[in-house]
Amino acid sequence: MPRIGILTGGGDCPGLNPVIRAVVRKAINEGYEVIGFKNGWKGLIENDTMALDLASISGILPKGGTILGTSRTNPYKKEGGVAKVKENFQKMDLNALVAVGGEDTLGVASKLTKDGISNIVGVPKTIDNDLSSTDYTFGFDTALNTATECIDRLHTTAESHHRVMVVEVMGRHAGWIAVESGIAGGADFILIPELPIDIEEVCASIKKRHSRGKTFSIIVVSEGAQFKEGTFVLQEEKLDEFGHVRLGGIGEKLAGEIEKKTGYETRVTVLGHIQRGGTPTAFDRILGTRFGIRAVELVKQKKFGRMVALSGNKIIDVPLENAVAALKTVDMELYEVAKVFFG
Ligand code: F6P
Repeated sequence: MPRIGILTGGGDCPGLNPVIRAVVRKAINEGYEVIGFKNGWKGLIENDTMALDLASISGILPKGGTILGTSRTNPYKKEGGVAKVKENFQKMDLNALVAVGGEDTLGVASKLTKDGISNIVGVPKTIDNDLSSTDYTFGFDTALNTATECIDRLHTTAESHHRVMVVEVMGRHAGWIAVESGIAGGADFILIPELPIDIEEVCASIKKRHSRGKTFSIIVVSEGAQFKEGTFVLQEEKLDEFGHVRLGGIGEKLAGEIEKKTGYETRVTVLGHIQRGGTPTAFDRILGTRFGIRAVELVKQKKFGRMVALSGNKIIDVPLENAVAALKTVDMELYEVAKVFFG
């Protein structure tokens, strides 16, 4: 029986299990057997697998995370890693591999297609929504809704205590979660990695708002936003295997500056991994399901080196290398919409 392998790599996100379920169901319908590799590329390097049959995917649709586990393993940064991937690909007699991930996991997939493993299809995931060639990645909608709900909750305390509330959301290189949750939650200022933080402008805007009688403000900031000087606020400097530092703490720094410059009591809430957890929204379940089914269709058609993508309301496929060539940053037209409500 022909065989498809599947792995999920990088940060977990809501919608991974719906993809796995869809790949397995569609693949079995089409006469394939499916093998799951555990913990991203690590599973393919170590040949750590699990059989994926109808029983193993039963009931996973509404569950966050991934039943396969994940990791930030980069075969190109492991001694003999790529050779191991090739060896196990052959040993497991795979006809194709479905790699589900973001810029890092799919970056590896794209490189592998040029380095001797051409039978790969990519599926785009990330709560950051920063992958090119697709209008949306699954996971983003759930994170956005969680962040919006948190902003709504923070509003009541901000209003009752007459405070400035800074909300730090995820978004390493792109501020999609900040901008969209800020618009949806009625933020009074939004700071994103794409635009340097001008602290004077932020404080002037808060003061303007307070001068018209408002006694509270909500400021949303992406973890990847930087002050004009251009240095990230970090939790850890050590780079992971894809060259990323661990971000976090910009909210605290910003809150300190705002309180110092405006004299208004300012508090900070860091949403962190709360945004990545929980049950996927209906949108993410449906998108993940459609992506998974199209991925198997691509395998069947032997259309390799491609990534499934959303264009408008249609599922399309695009070259993997285009999808990982550049990140999709925030559309400044959308930021202009958000700006109407600043101050
Ligand atoms: O996967 C995207 C993301 O959630 C980023 O927004 C964030 O910077 C990073 O992952 C955090 O990763 P980890 O959970 O490995 O610290």
